[in-house]
This record gives sequence, structure tokens and C-alpha cells, in this order.
Amino acid sequence: MLLKGKKILLGITGSIAAYKAAHLTRLLVKEGAEVQIIMSTSALDFITPLTLATLSKKPVFHEFFDPKTGSWTNHVDLGLWADLFLIAPISANTLSKLANGSCDNLLSATYLSARCPVMIAPAMDLDMYQHPSVRKNLGTVASFGNIILDAESGELASGLSGQGRLMEPENILEKVVAHFVSAEDFLGKKVLITSGPTQEAIDPVRFISNHSSGKMGAAIADSFARRGAEVHLVLGSGAIKPENKKIKIYPVKSAQEMYQESARVHRAMDICVFAAAVADYAPKNVATEKIKKEGEGMAIDLVKNVDIALTLGKAKMPHQIHVGFALETENEAFHAKNKLEKKNFDLIILNSMRQKGAGFQLDTNKVSLFFEDGHTEESEILPKQQIAEMILQGIKKIPVKI
Ligand code: CTP
Repeated sequence: MLLKGKKILLGITGSIAAYKAAHLTRLLVKEGAEVQIIMSTSALDFITPLTLATLSKKPVFHEFFDPKTGSWTNHVDLGLWADLFLIAPISANTLSKLANGSCDNLLSATYLSARCPVMIAPAMDLDMYQHPSVRKNLGTVASFGNIILDAESGELASGLSGQGRLMEPENILEKVVAHFVSAEDFLGKKVLITSGPTQEAIDPVRFISNHSSGKMGAAIADSFARRGAEVHLVLGSGAIKPENKKIKIYPVKSAQEMYQESARVHRAMDICVFAAAVADYAPKNVATEKIKKEGEGMAIDLVKNVDIALTLGKAKMPHQIHVGFALETENEAFHAKNKLEKKNFDLIILNSMRQKGAGFQLDTNKVSLFFEDGHTEESEILPKQQIAEMILQGIKKIPVKI
């Protein structure tokens, strides 16, 4: 719930892309935002207020005066209520009104009354989008401080192909979240994340592994990417993938492969987060053929795996930040602090196995953060995305030693 408690005024104008506003509304509501929709009159030709009222769970406004209820919709109140006014899609016509101070419908009147930041996502045909008057209007509203979510390229409703498509709702959501989450505060940072379980082969069809889902690692990777970092994710087999397409993923199976991929990029990184559940031991010999069932029991000789965090911790450079995880069942804080020191971490995140709502495979987690300077922080039971945000905030508090 990355937008919990945020009040978003969603303006929808007359464009064929108005149908995408329904999906956008769902995404915003799903992230916990309170969404109040205002439609321009021509938007009513493209999508019904009923659909949007159902999805936003609020009546949709489109006129100053509602003859059915006899009530007046106060654009000043709406403008003051919102934390963000997002207009998606915005047509060339409404854009021109905003640039010139026209105020002939509820949406444009609210725009003039709004004190909150304004984001606009244009949608129009490619030639319209490049027309000097549209470019000028975009420049004008940008000079007012409005945030422009540039149209995307692709197939357009006219049958032509080019720039003019409404930014995809998922990408708009990402921009809205980034706007609230102190924008791109990890821009230019290179981040290595290990995530998911490792698989240690016994024979060609069997392996030793664990219950790690990789959900926490994926959430951390997405948070870093959303906040501008270049993310390198070394990902164990079967682990959840992050959503952000810019993240570089290196798929691996065994701890040894995970180590090799991590070591290859480690020197160039600013921040390393060791979120993987690495198997501590692997079969000494991997059978080349499937092991046949013989006798009443069998034993497998195991040998210690490379400790990725420990080994790279020894090579840690002064400007680098290393973050580890600990999963404990007893003497939790004691073991976590020991690992912090032993593995040269700047921060360790303790997962408690005792806590309901925390642990493997779940969407929620409860963690304690132990910092190298001795201070600690504790979370509530929260969705893993919010835990990821808390971890990133924690990382920002670590002083870089050069
Ligand atoms: N880790 C690692 N490579 C390993 C084992 C662990 O990189 N071979 C990392 C994990 O990703 C985690 C941290 O080290 O960030 C601690 O992992 P954990 O399994 O709790 O600790 P271990 O050192 O394996 O100790 P133990 O299993 O004895 O509790």
C-alpha cells in the first residue's frame, strides 16, 4: 500500500484513452489512495461515471451544479482537499485551457483552485502532440511547475503509429509513487541485490533448497529502481521477479553461481543487499545420473558453501554499503548483531520466525533493523513493499565513510 492515506484528485478528459483511467483508478485504489474523480464533459462520451464511481468508491463529479441532487460541487474545496491533482488522460483541448487560464468546466476551475502539485499525462494523435501550439502549451504548464508524464510511442487510435499514447497506467502509478516517495533519491547509485533460494544439485533431477520466495528481494529491487538506482539482481531459481523492467536480472541456481555473478559486479557497486537465502551446504559430489532407489536409507555428504556476504564483506571498499538479513529462531538480536559484525554489514535486517504475519512466502513481514552505529529500529507487520521502503530509508541514514 504505497499510497496509503494519499488523496488523489483524478481528472479525466475527452480522449479515447479515457478507458485506461478505469485501470489507473483501480491501481491507485489498490495502493491505498483515496481517489476523487472529476470528468470533463467530453470525457462522458468515452467512459461512464458509473464505472469510475464503482472503482473509486466515490461519486464522480463533472458539473458545477447537479440538478438531480440540487447540490453545488465546490471546486475550491476539491482543489484544497487533494495531495495531488493527476489529469490522465489530458486532451489537447484541456491542456490549452490550463495553459491559458480558461475556466469553463469543473475540471479547469478546480485546476485554478488547486494548491497541490499537478501531474498531467497527455494522450493525442502523433501530429497533434508535435504541433507547435501543443508544445507551447506543454512548455507553459511546465513553467507553472506542473509535472508532465510524457506520452508513450506506439500504435494510436487513428491507426497511425508514433508518440501520443497515454503513458501506461502501471507507469503512471510508478510516477505517482515516486512523487510521494521523495522522488529519485538513489539516482546514479549502483545496487547489487541477491534474492531468492539457491538450489544445490544432488543429481540431474533433485536438489536441496529452501522456502524463500524472493518477495522481499523483489520489493527491495523495485523500490531502488523506482527511486532512480541502477539495480543488478542476482536471482535464485523460482524466486519472484521484480516488476520494474529496468532491473538487470542474473538468474542463477547454486550458491557458487550466485557468488560468481555477485563477485563479477561487486567492485562497481555502491550498495549491496544480501537478501538471498543461500544454502549453507551443498552435496559434495553431484551424481551425473539419477540416483536409483537402493537400500532402506541413504546419506548425502555435504560440504560448506561459499558465504557470499562474508567473502564480499572482506572486499568491501570504504564507499560501499553492505546490508544483510538474518533469520533466527532464538536469541534473535544477539545472533543478528554477531552477523552484522562478522560479515562487515552496515545494517542487518532481522526477520523473526516467531512473529505471525512474518516469514517465508507471505506478503507481509515484521523486521528489526540493527545499524552498525548501535541504533535499532522496529517495524510493524507491514506489506513487504513498505518494509522495503523502510529499509531504503534506513540505508539513507548510513554515513558513507569517504
Ligand atoms: N549469506 C550469504 N551466503 C551464504 C549464507 C548467507 O550471502 N552462504 C547471507 C544472507 O544472504 C544473509 C546473511 O548472509 O544476508 C545471513 O544469512 P543467514 O543464513 O541468516 O546466516 P548464516 O551465516 O548462514 O548463519 P546460520 O545459518 O548459522 O544462522
